[in-house]
Amino acid sequence: MSPKSRELSDRGLAWDQEYGEIRAYTTSYRGDIDRGVRFLLGYLATHRETIDGPIVDCGCGIGRNAIPLAQEGHQVIGLEHSAVALHLLQERLGEGALAGTLTTQQHDLNEPLPIEDDFAAAVLDITAVDNLVDAELRRGYGREVGRILMPGGVVIVVTFARNDGYYGPWLKSSPWREEGVVEDPNTGIRNKLFTANELDAVFAPPLVREVGSTLVFIDDAAGVTWTRRFLMHIYRNQGYSVPDD
Ligand SMILES: C[S@@+](CC[C@H](N)C(=O)[O-])C[C@H]1O[C@@H](n2cnc3c(N)ncnc32)[C@H](O)[C@@H]1O
Repeated sequence: MSPKSRELSDRGLAWDQEYGEIRAYTTSYRGDIDRGVRFLLGYLATHRETIDGPIVDCGCGIGRNAIPLAQEGHQVIGLEHSAVALHLLQERLGEGALAGTLTTQQHDLNEPLPIEDDFAAAVLDITAVDNLVDAELRRGYGREVGRILMPGGVVIVVTFARNDGYYGPWLKSSPWREEGVVEDPNTGIRNKLFTANELDAVFAPPLVREVGSTLVFIDDAAGVTWTRRFLMHIYRNQGYSVPDD
């Protein structure tokens, strides 16, 4: 592990505290599948497509997406750096349940992904990439997502917009304002807030954005209700070799 990555990963212990005792975010305890995943499945259905191959869930947390997808019969690999989250996921699963369809691995997304080339039919990044606050490592992660996706494979990314009602106001006083990074005083967790172009620069060719929208909804964080603004993008690996005429 590089020194830079190690420092970031140490800071990631804040996520253990979030899952263990703070629980400021609904994703730390809510069990319903994310709207981004539902959006991806609906989008594919309108194109008469299904996810035909393994799914890698980056930053899988307590498995709110990985578990139901595995229950539907998908092969799912959950990558997550928080040992506490993985423990909670296992508790939700129960002993041995879903063996063979859902596997998890403790992994820091700042590091190369422990998955072979062209492996996944779909990658889920549901509010994970925003945790990668180092621009260079974040771009490296985007390249890794492109590497593990099979040609034609898709990635759904749901992440925080610059004007998100919860995180956005902290930008003004943030020492990392220029980079669009804030530290949540409720949890000590740092997050990158994105413009659509910044997100496209992370998930860059061979990944190409097929759909992009801003999702506005009301949600709870730190026990208060906020107007949330998320970016929801679907990228596809266009890494086909295009035959010459
Ligand atoms: C907001 S939660 C979302 C969890 C899950 N995707 C969901 O939809 O419920 C962000 C997750 O990313 C994980 N995470 C943050 N930084 C990470 C890193 N560097 N490597 C791996 N996982 C990370 C956190 O521990 C947390 O579980």
